[in-house]
Amino acid sequence: MPRKTQGFSISGVQIKAQLKVCDGRLALVDHDGELILKPSPEAFEYVAENEHLTMTLMRQVGFDVPPCGLITLQDGHRVFVIRRYDRTSGGKRHQEDAMQALGIHNATSGSKYDSASYADVLALTKARCGSAVAARLLDRLVFSYLVGNDDHHLKNISFILERPVTLAPAYDTLASSLYNQGGQVMALRFFPDREPAYFAEMGNGHYSGSDFVELAKSAGLAEKAAKSRIERLALQTEKRAPDLIRSSYLPDEMKGRYQTLVSERLGFIRVM
Ligand SMILES: Nc1ncnc2c1ncn2[C@@H]1O[C@H](COP(=O)(O)OP(=O)(O)O)[C@@H](O)[C@H]1O
Ligand SMILES: [Mg+2]
Repeated sequence: MPRKTQGFSISGVQIKAQLKVCDGRLALVDHDGELILKPSPEAFEYVAENEHLTMTLMRQVGFDVPPCGLITLQDGHRVFVIRRYDRTSGGKRHQEDAMQALGIHNATSGSKYDSASYADVLALTKARCGSAVAARLLDRLVFSYLVGNDDHHLKNISFILERPVTLAPAYDTLASSLYNQGGQVMALRFFPDREPAYFAEMGNGHYSGSDFVELAKSAGLAEKAAKSRIERLALQTEKRAPDLIRSSYLPDEMKGRYQTLVSERLGFIRVM
């Protein structure tokens, strides 16, 4: 049974283009661009502004986020732009997403949601990249929960195939829950065969900090370290989010809903 039978996924809907800087001006190119351009899909307003806000917050709380920004078009629409992390002056950096890394065939459009769990991805990351990198992936999952990024699926996690293999910088992170109220809170289930304890017991669709700690432990990460990372991330997010949301390019009504969502999630994450 696919996890995402209802609601929507922004992925696939969004048209993307690439840009290159030529003689100090931005030019659209078919391939080998330096920047990726993502306008808001017609049906979902302010996705570009939302992604910009969320990625900026993500950088401020300490994550590896490529340089990104918003460009205002002549008609007033804003588009999100982000520097490609898989291109350097030296050439290409090879990457693969978590689905490829797990050896899963992209059989149906739901495969990226239902063919593996976060525990599988975390265990693979630890085996491939070590505990420190796996802990950073756990942080990203916690962050996704805190900001309502309910689309953190297997194709929104990538690895850079260098020695040592490492996690690619963050991408495609936004408060997608704002468009999808009442939907699933996280894109993947936590474990292949069960849900974590708090989520399973409470039945309110929410995860607690203790659920993320349970996830960390399942991949062999230390409980104490996981707890303190979650606490630190919650504190940083609580501190930085209000000003950034206020000064963002979202309309006031969405700013209010974004802040309410973050405050609510902070309450759940502190249950440890
Ligand atoms: N900054 C980036 N640098 C390099 N590759 C990227 C970057 N951002 C996204 N990608 C790649 O492009 C794919 C699509 O981009 P994404 O932001 O996930 O758009 P969508 O909303 O359509 O899923 C990603 O799965 C990833 O492989
Ligand atoms: Mg994506």
